Amino acid sequence: MSNSNNKKIDISNGNGKAKKILIIGLGQIGSSNAEYMSSLGLDVDGFDISERSVQRALDSGIIRNKATSFAGYDYYLVCISTHNPDNMFVPYLEGITQIAKKIAKEGKSGALVGIDSTISRGTANIVLDILEHRLHVCHVPHRFFILEKEEHGVNQMRVAGACEECCMKEARHFYGDILKIPLHEVEKIEIAELCKIVENSHRFLEIAFAEELKMMCDNSGLDFKQLRDAINTKWNTKILDAREGIGGHCLPKDSHMFMFTSKEAVGLSIIEAAKEIDKKYRSHLAQQMASKAMSIEPRSVSKQSRA
Ligand SMILES: NC(=O)c1ccc[n+]([C@@H]2O[C@H](COP(=O)([O-])OP(=O)(O)OC[C@H]3O[C@@H](n4cnc5c(N)ncnc54)[C@H](O)[C@@H]3O)[C@@H](O)[C@H]2O)c1
Repeated sequence: MSNSNNKKIDISNGNGKAKKILIIGLGQIGSSNAEYMSSLGLDVDGFDISERSVQRALDSGIIRNKATSFAGYDYYLVCISTHNPDNMFVPYLEGITQIAKKIAKEGKSGALVGIDSTISRGTANIVLDILEHRLHVCHVPHRFFILEKEEHGVNQMRVAGACEECCMKEARHFYGDILKIPLHEVEKIEIAELCKIVENSHRFLEIAFAEELKMMCDNSGLDFKQLRDAINTKWNTKILDAREGIGGHCLPKDSHMFMFTSKEAVGLSIIEAAKEIDKKYRSHLAQQMASKAMSIEPRSVSKQSRA
């Protein structure tokens, strides 16, 4: 990712020193942030619980140093994973609160904590409480597609929410003025928190619906592709393909976060049924594979016996 005019952006802190950024979590999102920010000539350090991730970032030159302490930074970008390490389908926000406690202890007053990780409703305000609002807190959820990093990477249109008006002022300056990211500002941080998980829940539903149709066709002797092609001739309908089940660490855990919030407010959630469909679809695929293998086996045995 390159900065078109390659001009170093002046973000001095008034004492003639450049403001410093710390990226916490150097996976896909953290390293894309680091790559983008260092391409703008900004002073970027990194931190990760995985030594391998830190080393990779140092080796590729996207961070200057590994942070040994959280002291002395002006901007903290939280990009850590938010799924349970033992089950990636389940959200896990302990890491975010642990990071907040470390920033509360070591971070300097007035700095900005930007949460880029996907979080559930209410998390940003918990972080603000841990920091006792000594630092500002905003949430600018990521939208990212690794195969199209220029177009769908760090500096595409992003939704921005902040805990308080002073936090939004800092967020606007950092993400908007310094990083040149087009921002869609929302009044309440909960809207920004929900935005990302609703986007991914919507996608989850669309895929689960395709999976349901595929099973319905398979179980009643109809061709799913023909049905899908026929439906998709309509101007406002787009049925997705049904592939190998809903994977990755984003859609399953983000829809889980949404389901929890929605069930609290509505009492039930359509996502619950979609998750059952996805589970059923996976066993449907496994069964299909097993019967395919069984139908191939006798032929290969007879071939072998001929040899
Ligand atoms: N990858 C995407 O396409 C994408 C898109 C939008 C949002 N997100 C969200 O961004 C966040 C990060 O996603 P990712 O794809 O970069 O994940 P990732 O698994 O590639 O990287 C996460 C990194 O965070 C580190 N980490 C975890 N807990 C930590 C802690 N307590 N302290 C320090 N480091 C810690 C891990 O070691 C890892 O290197 C998640 O919340 C994800 O849902 C990801």
